[in-house]
Amino acid sequence: MTSTKLFRESIAEQVYAIIKEEILLAKREPGEQINPRELASKLGLSIMPIRDALKQLVDEGLVVHKPRVGYFVRTFTSQEIREIMEVRKLCEVYCLEEYFDRIDREKLLACLESSQEEHDPTEGEEFEHLDDNIHSLIVQASGNIFLIKGYENLKDLIVLIRHLVRNQTYQANEEHIMLIEAILKGDRKGAKQILKDHIDRVTKSFSKMSFKSLNS
Ligand code: NI
Repeated sequence: MTSTKLFRESIAEQVYAIIKEEILLAKREPGEQINPRELASKLGLSIMPIRDALKQLVDEGLVVHKPRVGYFVRTFTSQEIREIMEVRKLCEVYCLEEYFDRIDREKLLACLESSQEEHDPTEGEEFEHLDDNIHSLIVQASGNIFLIKGYENLKDLIVLIRHLVRNQTYQANEEHIMLIEAILKGDRKGAKQILKDHIDRVTKSFSKMSFKSLNS
């Protein structure tokens, strides 16, 4: 490999990280067009590393490329949302059941404490972060890097879906508390039911939204 190629790849990696972060933080909204030329001139780069970065994001499903039209931040039909949530449920419920004893109790206890804190934990980013942590702990218990990587990729898509349904009020916090308490008590069966119901309810609340305006 030539050093020029290495250089180009590392630049593309950085551009990839920048765009990905903008998407995940909703600085670029679902459905929004990404203009490679504009981005290249803004970052003072040639078009090649921008294209490489966008290609990687297309591979991950965060960006779509419409030939002769351009690049767009991914948006979802309600069917796609149901399907993504189905895979999520598959991963989490399986890991909960199979690796129940390996779920990190100490970290779970910390999550429980944050969930029970006085300030409104159901508000905004802080809650989303906590939500992510709780669900990830269950999947991380598997120690299976393929499963964990697949799940993390899925979670990026779920972050995007959340941007579409931002103003939802969640009863999720209460459900999280019940879930963690069941795990800490060693109640595998009860925890499994709570997790299933929780994911089903969130899925239902997603599909109640109208996505008409967001899907062309
Ligand atoms: Ni949750």
